[in-house]
Amino acid sequence: MADVTMRIWRGDANGGNFETFTLAQNEGEVVLDVIHRIQATEAPDLACRWNCKAGKCGSCSAEINGKPRLMCMTRMDQLPEGEVTVTPMKTFPIIRDLVTDVSFNYVQAQKVPALLPPPMPERGYVMFQEDVERGQEFRKCIECFMCQDVCHVIRDHEENKEHYSGPRFFIRYAELEMHPLDTNDRRHLLREEMGLGYCNITKCCTEVCPEHIHITDNAIIPLKERVVDAAYDPVAWLGRKIRRKHNRTADEAAVQPAP
Ligand code: SF4
Ligand code: SF4
Ligand code: FES
Repeated sequence: MADVTMRIWRGDANGGNFETFTLAQNEGEVVLDVIHRIQATEAPDLACRWNCKAGKCGSCSAEINGKPRLMCMTRMDQLPEGEVTVTPMKTFPIIRDLVTDVSFNYVQAQKVPALLPPPMPERGYVMFQEDVERGQEFRKCIECFMCQDVCHVIRDHEENKEHYSGPRFFIRYAELEMHPLDTNDRRHLLREEMGLGYCNITKCCTEVCPEHIHITDNAIIPLKERVVDAAYDPVAWLGRKIRRKHNRTADEAAVQPAP
């Protein structure tokens, strides 16, 4: 097979530059394999973060030829021929080489109000399969933070970070808000402090998600609808809530065994 040329960003918070490595290409390799071979031969101090090498831990996120991707899931033979450029995620501060400081995301995670179920009824909680499935999509998130990396609200406006939780956490809010046993109301928080209104549904986050979560369509847009309902038409929102509760109670009654 032909040689492969890797152009890798090296440096730290004080700056850096690209280093180029040319090595033989092996069949079936992913970008992370090539990075590991470079570490094993020419640059043992090249820093990169990885864990599972199976697309499940979310730690090997980087930008490959300018696009956020998991290094362990990007096959070399699926990249265009020629030089392959690997850079750290642009949105987060650099620690060293390909490793960035993603702690902003953990700060945002701590701000999400937890699930608050009502007291356990005697017969236990009842959840319908459709409600389980609705939240299941959001639980596939592997916290690679590539959606956060690509979201222009964070990427291009450092000043927004503090006031914007970003797509990864909008799916967490959506999961909790759609949970039938949750009694917390996060809509005011989303509107006033988490910057939901900054999102202009460009769908860039959805495009890069390795778990194919429909971040914009299934989480952000429904959240925006709920927040708008609550902010501008509380009577309509209350009416829908009562109607839903009534329908649910009737459904529940239908599945309960007769006394
Ligand atoms: S859809 Fe919203 S959250 Fe997703 S990348 Fe665009 S602005 Fe960011
Ligand atoms: S939603 Fe998708 S892109 Fe965002 S952190 Fe989770 S897995 Fe990664
Ligand atoms: S090493 Fe775990 S997702 Fe790539």
